[in-house]
Amino acid sequence: MPSKGTVVRISERVTRCRGFHPALRALAAGALFSCGALGQPAGFNYDESKVPSYDLPEILRRADGRIVDAAAEWPARRTEILKLFEEQVYGISPGAPAHMRFTVLEEDDAALGGLARRKQVRVDFGPAGRSSMEILLYTPASAGRHVPVFLGLNFGGNHTVHSDPAIRMPTRWVLERDGTETRRRDADDTRGRSASRWQVERLLKRGYGVATVYCGDLDPDFDDGFENGVHPLAPPISPADWGSISAWAWGLSRALDYLETDAHADGSRVVVMGHSRLGKTALWAGARDMRFAMVISNNSGCGGAALSRRRFGETVARINTRFPHWFADNFSQYNGEEDSLPVDQHMLLALVAPRPLYVASAEDDSWADPKGEFLAAMHAGRAYELLGEQGLGVSEQPPVNQPVMRTVGYHIRTGKHDVTAYDWDRFLDFGDLHLKRD
Ligand code: GCU
Repeated sequence: MPSKGTVVRISERVTRCRGFHPALRALAAGALFSCGALGQPAGFNYDESKVPSYDLPEILRRADGRIVDAAAEWPARRTEILKLFEEQVYGISPGAPAHMRFTVLEEDDAALGGLARRKQVRVDFGPAGRSSMEILLYTPASAGRHVPVFLGLNFGGNHTVHSDPAIRMPTRWVLERDGTETRRRDADDTRGRSASRWQVERLLKRGYGVATVYCGDLDPDFDDGFENGVHPLAPPISPADWGSISAWAWGLSRALDYLETDAHADGSRVVVMGHSRLGKTALWAGARDMRFAMVISNNSGCGGAALSRRRFGETVARINTRFPHWFADNFSQYNGEEDSLPVDQHMLLALVAPRPLYVASAEDDSWADPKGEFLAAMHAGRAYELLGEQGLGVSEQPPVNQPVMRTVGYHIRTGKHDVTAYDWDRFLDFGDLHLKRD
């Protein structure tokens, strides 16, 4: 286990992966650093003609074989699907801690040149100082009432989402660009580093709030035996039964607990959004917690919106090998055995129904399998239609930069794995379509 203050390198983390033959670990490490022709990790399938034929599990077929054909029967089927994802993929997670406390650490009604109200809130999960996270919330200063809020975890600390010098620095492990994890409190040079991925002013000007939490407050993103995050808070649940994605998703629900109490945020209109590994997390949070009013996945790929059975780009074996801490241990049973999975990711998306769901892909992000992300969104439509809502309404992946928006929405934009202004404009359009009240 790394001790506090040490630096952990990715290559070491790869070689520490549990339960794999050394040759497979070496392959995973190599794949990380060598790039294929498409600029994606080499040694994986990027050829549509090599996608194996597969049968997806039927969203509406209950465990006893009966097909659900009435909306009233959906909650029971939903419970079955959710349980399968808990047991086989992401793991279970506890409820809200009994003694959770919210402390406003800082507040400014005229932040960002008067555009925003800024609030920074510490959420203590237990005795002060033991385990907590900090929420950064901006709402439009001009809004006199509760506004809908986009909530998402960030990768590098709240201070990375905007160059605003008043944003508090993280106090926990931070993932550096060179792939090391360090404890940094002095990273002024990283302020605003991910601002293009958040577009704070853009959201505020369109009447939305934005809230974010550093994922490392909940669990640092490396295989530390779950000693540094929130896992020890839930003693009856073994850490191995809820991986980092479950812990991060749990934190999103705790942030929503806070937003429900905030004077400027509308807790009934919170959109959970995330990119990449944090997109997988947003989907799992939105699937578990029905209080989220809308769910957005950006380039979430394997273990997110992409169908596992396609084995296009990242595979189940690769993700479990490279990131052994993300999922429940059970998920690694399906390494190379995707067809034995009792679920596939279209069923995760179906758990969001009937709430609005948006899946975003990027053309150059083959690793995340844009087509697999589209197909999962399309197949999830079965649950939406059962509940009287519209699925995607198209059976072919739309051309680049031509979004489709019904109760399920989708776009593939030009460009690479990232969150861009284009993505945000579409998420805001989708928000306007479903959440605006006037
Ligand atoms: C890696 C990983 C993906 C993940 C991505 C990210 O590429 O293989 O599954 O989505 O990191 O989070 O940026």
